[in-house]
Amino acid sequence: MNRQGKKIARYNRIYKQLQDLLSDSPDVISRLATINAILYHKIPYFFWVGFYILHEDNLYVGPYQGPLACQVLPYHKGMCWKCVTEKKTIIVDNVHEIKDHIACDARSKSEIVVPVFDEYKNVIAVLDVDSDSLQAFDNQDDKELTQITELIRW
Ligand code: SME
Repeated sequence: MNRQGKKIARYNRIYKQLQDLLSDSPDVISRLATINAILYHKIPYFFWVGFYILHEDNLYVGPYQGPLACQVLPYHKGMCWKCVTEKKTIIVDNVHEIKDHIACDARSKSEIVVPVFDEYKNVIAVLDVDSDSLQAFDNQDDKELTQITELIRW
């Protein structure tokens, strides 16, 4: 199996495990925390994974795994806010080339941010993943992580 095939197979296993775990999980914070734990420990190129949750004009850090994160992302700055504003996934191959990127840890080199929607299709949070490798994320990560966010039931 080639690299992409292995990646898809790994995401399929993770999705099934999360489907089982989250169907019995009674609370949204528990579900967010469980998604992070599985993704962080099962995908080797995930250096930081977590949620930022929309609170009026700020994004507050929610459950996460990895190094210490920025607690608040100020209004309309950085990649997470870009994701909220554009309501679509943002992929950054090299964060050090992007002026507007907010660096919580200098070891992060690439990033993907996926919007999380409520039942009315409003963005209420983002799933943010950083890698310590350049160009770690592609459209397959977008597709798979988007499917995982649909399991959240906010
Ligand atoms: N890089 C993000 C900030 C969050 S950290 O990556 C954990 C941004 O530019 O919004």
